[in-house]
Amino acid sequence: LTATINLQPQNTKSISDMLIGIFFEDLNYAADGGLYAEMVQNRDFEYKPTDKLTLDKNWNPSYAWKLSGENASFTIDSIKPIHPNNPHYALLNTTAAGAALVNEGYDGFNIKKGDRYKLSLFAKLLKGAGDISVSLLSEKNEVLAQTDLSVSGSNWQNLKAVLVPSADNEHAVLQIKPKHPGSIAFDLVSLFPESTFKGRPNGLRADLAQTIADIHPRFMRFPGGCLAHGDGLANMYRWKNSIGPLESRLPQRNIWNYHQTVGLGYYEYFQFCEDIGAAPVPVIAAAVPCQNSAVGGAGQQGGLPMTEMGAYIQDILDLIEYANGPATSKWGKVRADEGHPQPFHLKYLGIGNEDLISDVFEERFTMIYNAIKKVHPEIEVIGTVGPAAEGTDYEQGWQLANKLKVPIVDEHYYQPPGWFINNQDFYDGYDRKASKVYLGEYAAHVPGRKSNVESALTEALYLTNLERNADVVKMASYAPLLAKENHTQWTPDLIYFNNREVKPTVNYYVQQLFGENSGNSYVPNSFEVSDNTDNVRKRIACSVVRDGASGDLIIKIINLLPISVKSAFNWNGLAIPKGKLTQTTLTGSPTSETARPAVKTVDDKAGNLDLPAYSLTVLRYQQL
Ligand code: AHR
Repeated sequence: LTATINLQPQNTKSISDMLIGIFFEDLNYAADGGLYAEMVQNRDFEYKPTDKLTLDKNWNPSYAWKLSGENASFTIDSIKPIHPNNPHYALLNTTAAGAALVNEGYDGFNIKKGDRYKLSLFAKLLKGAGDISVSLLSEKNEVLAQTDLSVSGSNWQNLKAVLVPSADNEHAVLQIKPKHPGSIAFDLVSLFPESTFKGRPNGLRADLAQTIADIHPRFMRFPGGCLAHGDGLANMYRWKNSIGPLESRLPQRNIWNYHQTVGLGYYEYFQFCEDIGAAPVPVIAAAVPCQNSAVGGAGQQGGLPMTEMGAYIQDILDLIEYANGPATSKWGKVRADEGHPQPFHLKYLGIGNEDLISDVFEERFTMIYNAIKKVHPEIEVIGTVGPAAEGTDYEQGWQLANKLKVPIVDEHYYQPPGWFINNQDFYDGYDRKASKVYLGEYAAHVPGRKSNVESALTEALYLTNLERNADVVKMASYAPLLAKENHTQWTPDLIYFNNREVKPTVNYYVQQLFGENSGNSYVPNSFEVSDNTDNVRKRIACSVVRDGASGDLIIKIINLLPISVKSAFNWNGLAIPKGKLTQTTLTGSPTSETARPAVKTVDDKAGNLDLPAYSLTVLRYQQL
């Protein structure tokens, strides 16, 4: 089979230079127990049975903690907490030395010999002497690291130390042991590896963060998804609850049926975006909760009462000031006091997520949208039209966006691979003068089935069509991004991990190849295939972009057929760059979950290639 690709350099057009980004949501333990490097689970003793949809009496303030030893009691108290947002703390009463509080972490503490781990805890002494030892113990109770601390006085004190393990252990536990009989209160017990991503305090797991950074995402959408609008009105993600000292942040139920500490909050999200060179794209609820809210029962029919809308809108304007205002402004100062005097350069703000476009929604969205436009015309609001599928409010969402002239709208689709193969022209007919599109969530999705070469190449095929339409599709992000093994609520996902390992999927490498080989102008092409039947024709795709910064020309070709294809290019006057040509190929059997890209340098620059069966080929022509 031969594919002859005719380039049309005379029709080159400008395209978005921020097409490939990421969408981060604390789903599948992506944040707590995942990217957020905190190792102590339930560090603040704030787990509640109501964090779970089906009330779970074991999921309570002592979850992940236990008392070891005798002559002691471990209770939860709430008299004079460190902060009203964290009302519960642990009380350890001992009548003889020997008993201890033990935390199991998130599936244990994965510690490395010689690495440094930063311990921080709040404590107050209520009776007796306050000498304690804090240790990391192996499964056999061997002490792998230990430090001695002294709690004095009946007011909360913050004690800090560094633990350095003498051996590796994947399933260590953290133990706090008083040396004398007495009564000591503990709260916000925290242990972080010192080597977080970029060394940030209260930072992120370096290996996971680096894997995400390696996609070269141009933007990051956060904190959800469903998590942004929450499970019922009281559960909406409020950015102000997620900043400031950890003890003052307001933890809450995670709509994905666990607990969110918001330790990874807005400051950390902005910081991460800056660290990886991605534009921050926060999503704020449109003053309505998730339409599928189980808590509160009302779903989206009940939006925030009008009496609360003024304050709600002010919170959104405050967020813009927090991100961009000078350090002398009220909210800019809060950011500066947290350690970032320079602005975070917020340009995009999502309002709403997959909402029902009801009157309740429309009224509230319009109020928010108009207020942002008036006070901050420099901010590009991203509206929501949600799932582009039958039975959804996609059309109504577009009508509203057209009416208000919303700059960008967020579309979502999780569809089987066949849908992506058959809908490659999805954006060809979009009105170029209407709102731009952010494809905020998509995946070639077969529920319950892990990602493989077939779904990855289908996404690659579709991405070539997004590149062709990147004059209207400004941004796109695969979803979901992260999933912790044995703690997933959604499959497939892009990057799996456990405490020890990061396991990117084949689909991750597609995102990465498109992320690191993106461009800002598009060279159209047409092509002929020696067997021009529809079935064959739509399983081959090609896109050609130029990266303005380097001048490099990049060609991506997908062959989703079970046989190899020979490519031939008609350059039609386009000068073939003289620099080095690298060819990256991602190929494997359709069910393979382990295929990885292979890179080589190529001498023949004409583009005459054998495209293997089931493959993505990226040719990068370096400009000298
Ligand atoms: O990505 C998982 C979920 O899918 C998102 O939270 C939501 O927006 C969509 O329904």
